[in-house]
Amino acid sequence: MDRRVNGSGSVSEARALAELRRRLGVGIPLSRAPALALALLCVALIGIIELAAGHKVALAILYVFPIAFAALYAGGRAAFLVALASGAAWLLAELGAAGLTSARPAVFWNAAVLLGFFLAIAFLLDRLVRTITQLDASRAANRAGEERFRGVFDHASDGIFIADLEGRYIDVNEAGCRLLGYGRGELIDMSIGDLVPPADRERLRQSKERLLKDGPGIAEWSLRHKDGHYVAVEASSTITADGRWIALVRDITERKRVQESTRAAAAELEARVAERTAQLRALASELAAAEDRERREIARDLHDDLGQILAAARIRLASLRAASGPDCAQAADEIDRLIARADHATRSLAAQLAPPVLYELGLVPALEWLVEELQDTYGLKVELIDDGAPKPLTQPARAILYRAVRELLINVAKHAEVGAAEVETTRRGDRLHVRVNDHGVGFDQEKMARAPRRGLGLASVRERLSYIDGTVDIRSVPGDGTVVELTAPLAAQTQPSAEAPR
Ligand SMILES: Nc1ncnc2c1ncn2[C@@H]1O[C@H](COP(=O)(O)OP(=O)(O)OP(=O)(O)O)[C@@H](O)[C@H]1O
Ligand SMILES: [Mg+2]
Repeated sequence: MDRRVNGSGSVSEARALAELRRRLGVGIPLSRAPALALALLCVALIGIIELAAGHKVALAILYVFPIAFAALYAGGRAAFLVALASGAAWLLAELGAAGLTSARPAVFWNAAVLLGFFLAIAFLLDRLVRTITQLDASRAANRAGEERFRGVFDHASDGIFIADLEGRYIDVNEAGCRLLGYGRGELIDMSIGDLVPPADRERLRQSKERLLKDGPGIAEWSLRHKDGHYVAVEASSTITADGRWIALVRDITERKRVQESTRAAAAELEARVAERTAQLRALASELAAAEDRERREIARDLHDDLGQILAAARIRLASLRAASGPDCAQAADEIDRLIARADHATRSLAAQLAPPVLYELGLVPALEWLVEELQDTYGLKVELIDDGAPKPLTQPARAILYRAVRELLINVAKHAEVGAAEVETTRRGDRLHVRVNDHGVGFDQEKMARAPRRGLGLASVRERLSYIDGTVDIRSVPGDGTVVELTAPLAAQTQPSAEAPR
């Protein structure tokens, strides 16, 4: 019999062999070499006895004992060696009995048959010992595995629930019993379906299907405690090949509580941010209104003060021209033209800063006026399309939208390399949509965002629109024009600062 001493398999085999010897009542601690020597000595003794006594058959059976002894103690190879020695001893005894010189062929034939018999015995015994040893080793390994599992099962901090395929509990560990407040016996009378809320029974059925189909899985469940409340748990479940539904169940009440309070804190923070944002927006809107008032005052001052002064200067110049000679009259004409241009520029500036029509008539008439102004100033031909629907706007919204459209049209004039653009104003529900588009050179927005020297126009349009809860959408393709769509909320019609219906 061949034994290895390395590796855990051979260690348990060695243990099993020792156990086997103990059970056979041959528990004498013997190692290989002495066992082999003893077996060979036996063979020699039996040979001598046979030679002396001559009882062949009975003695031939006696040869089997040293072979068995060698198989058990010294291994398969030793058993074969002893079998060979037995065959040889028997042959020598036969030859001795027959007188060595007159050996008949039958003696050799008998010896060969007996040798075959001994070898077969050695082979069978070796196999038998080997099989019994392995069987014992695997039984011992199973027992050890079972014991290890039992240790883990009993001392695990998580609940371990084992049920059959119908969900009826077969076994539950100590932690599982503690988790749900039941005794082990009580749980074994129950099934998984008794512990999940009725609303979860269908989910439980689906979960079982999934475990059977896809293998192990993790899910959160609520399980009913003996005192009636539900415990939030996370179960890692699997269904084994022998049809056992095993779940490792962990109490996650604390984790849920932390998650819940984190969620509540996040919601509160969000609410506060929203409140602050609304406050900031209101403040920004106030600022825009104040800025607008300031512009109107500057425009009025330009018109009233500077305009008056320029008018007075022209009157005085006219009287100076009448009273002086022809040379002086020519110079006076030139000065008059200059003053006239300054007067016109002042009026135009005042009007663009705060066009009176914006405050008196509303956004659309102001845009009509703006379109004419831009035609004069930049030679840009703008087509204005209005759907005719009433568009009540708050004063800040009106001013912000007007200035946004003005910036977009000036951009067309400056950058688009076309002489025409379109402005479309539409009411959609309670929002106003203003679309400004051109078929010019367009631009790459990403490239523009990365450019080191960027203009302020578009950024300021976006920022100001955000003050009034408006939006800006720019779609531009290099070589294919630009479309900018602005939206802003319309005011309730009754609001005092809302503009006239256009
Ligand atoms: N309609 C358009 N057609 C082609 N390019 C445009 C158009 N509108 C804007 N752009 C491009 O976008 C860039 C940014 O425009 P923005 O209005 O922000 O700045 P700006 O006009 O260059 O300077 P600012 O408005 O501060 O005087 C422009 O420099 C131009 O390259
Ligand atoms: Mg610009």
